[in-house]
Amino acid sequence: MSLQFLIELAGGVDNIVRILSPQGRVVVAVKDAQKVLPCPDSVQAESVLGEWQLSMPRVDISDEDLASLGRLIAKKQIASAQQHLQPTTCSYRPQWHISPPQGLLNDPNGFVYHNGEYYLFYQWYPYACEHKDKYWVLLKSRNLVNWNWQSIALTPSDWFDSHGVFSGHAVSHDGELLLFYTGNTRLGHDRQRQTMQCVARLSEDNTAEKLGPVIRTLPAGVTEHFRDPKILYRQNKWHMLLGAQTTDLQGRLAVYHSNDLMNWDFDSLYGDEIAPFGYMWECPDMFELNGDLFFVFGPQGIKSDNPKHTIEHQNRIYHVEQDSEGKIHFLEGWKLDAGFDFYAPQSMETEDGRRVMVGWMGLPDEVNQPSCDNGWIHQLTALRELKWENGKIVQTPICELAELRESVSSLELGISPVDAQTKSFELNVELPWGSALTLMSDDNYGVKLQLDTDKGVLRFDRSQTQIREGDVIRELPLDTDKAVHLQILADNSSLEVFINHGEHVMTGRVFTPESATQIILEGANVSAEFAPLKSVVESTFAPAV
Ligand code: FRU
Repeated sequence: MSLQFLIELAGGVDNIVRILSPQGRVVVAVKDAQKVLPCPDSVQAESVLGEWQLSMPRVDISDEDLASLGRLIAKKQIASAQQHLQPTTCSYRPQWHISPPQGLLNDPNGFVYHNGEYYLFYQWYPYACEHKDKYWVLLKSRNLVNWNWQSIALTPSDWFDSHGVFSGHAVSHDGELLLFYTGNTRLGHDRQRQTMQCVARLSEDNTAEKLGPVIRTLPAGVTEHFRDPKILYRQNKWHMLLGAQTTDLQGRLAVYHSNDLMNWDFDSLYGDEIAPFGYMWECPDMFELNGDLFFVFGPQGIKSDNPKHTIEHQNRIYHVEQDSEGKIHFLEGWKLDAGFDFYAPQSMETEDGRRVMVGWMGLPDEVNQPSCDNGWIHQLTALRELKWENGKIVQTPICELAELRESVSSLELGISPVDAQTKSFELNVELPWGSALTLMSDDNYGVKLQLDTDKGVLRFDRSQTQIREGDVIRELPLDTDKAVHLQILADNSSLEVFINHGEHVMTGRVFTPESATQIILEGANVSAEFAPLKSVVESTFAPAV
């Protein structure tokens, strides 16, 4: 029985929305069950979680047969997602951060410098503010500030990724850009997860040619929560890092090695030294800063001592060491961002050798915020540079962001409100302990940054905003009694607060009305440096046709 036979039974290619290949079988899901022809006994037809699926034994059907059907499905998926490229008008939309035109954005992907340009992809579900079958969107930049829309680069069109082209990195190698990602599929009535690590090659026209899975099976001792490949070259071989969950529900780093980027051998799981540390580790990254090695990941299931901090999806950076046998040892770790919304970050090395990171300004599980009323949710963070200085991770906004300043002036802050006349600005200020700065405020709403002397914390309080889900208080202990320097980047519905020149960062989305542009300071008056920021958002969306 050929694939062609199954396609005809399914009512033709135009009626097929998904292909799957569970153990020894091929499954196609159809749009309209009425168009399915009467099936012989060898073909099983049934409704699986609301989707009509035809399944038959996979005999004499090659990967190439399935790939050609995948290419046809991809064409249809791109055409229908293209109907969702027009950005909706919304006062919460950032004017210099990357947000989706419609639907849901999550992790940054494939962040890399390649052939003279910066590439940045993001996870996208075009059709609703929901986490469903993910696509990759591609943007490019020459200066890390102006990002230009390129394409819908990958769609969930194939048997190995039909429930989502999940996160991954890109590798610039021999003049080509290879995209490594996790193909996510859900099989049968119990939505059994099947994950494979896959590769695609980006063509000149910014479409991606899928080369298929390079790791099809799991090593012993892990669950199907095995994803988010990061590729790096160290010790004369390619390494693939994956976020993993062990069968006893512990998060770990999994490492594979390869000489040619296509054939991969499992090395080991790492992270025992810091266990127990959550039930899953997502989105690994690894890089050197000043000759030392660091590992970044998203541990899930981390409880906090502070009762106001209830979200268990976190971000961490660990100082690690790789010994001469390639084994990775965990030394000391820190939070990368002590705010609300910083997850799944990726980093790359700039042309001039800086380590620059971008994260998802959002969190898993959270799908209802005021922007959903205008059909979109979540955004990427500002780009930050990471350094390792005197035993500390230091993070600062990339210097290129200064290009966004329209003008710089000094602003006298005090208890009488100052109208910033914009919600997209940079504010540099030195705050004494005991003072509280309220931003993006009007008579009813506002976001407060408070230096609480009694508790010795900087408190980021978004309780007086229009937020619908998520924590509203973050408290960062600060080990100093000196005035605290804040560099605040604001962009309509977000604040990124860089504390004491990058010793800490707190990122949060903050929803207040469009007209809430006042700034108030409780405590002694201080003078701040203020710069309204330009809008560069237009080029991040597809040109209207
Ligand atoms: C992190 C994550 C990744 C996964 C992707 C799916 O936010 O859960 O682990 O690949 O999102 O969109």
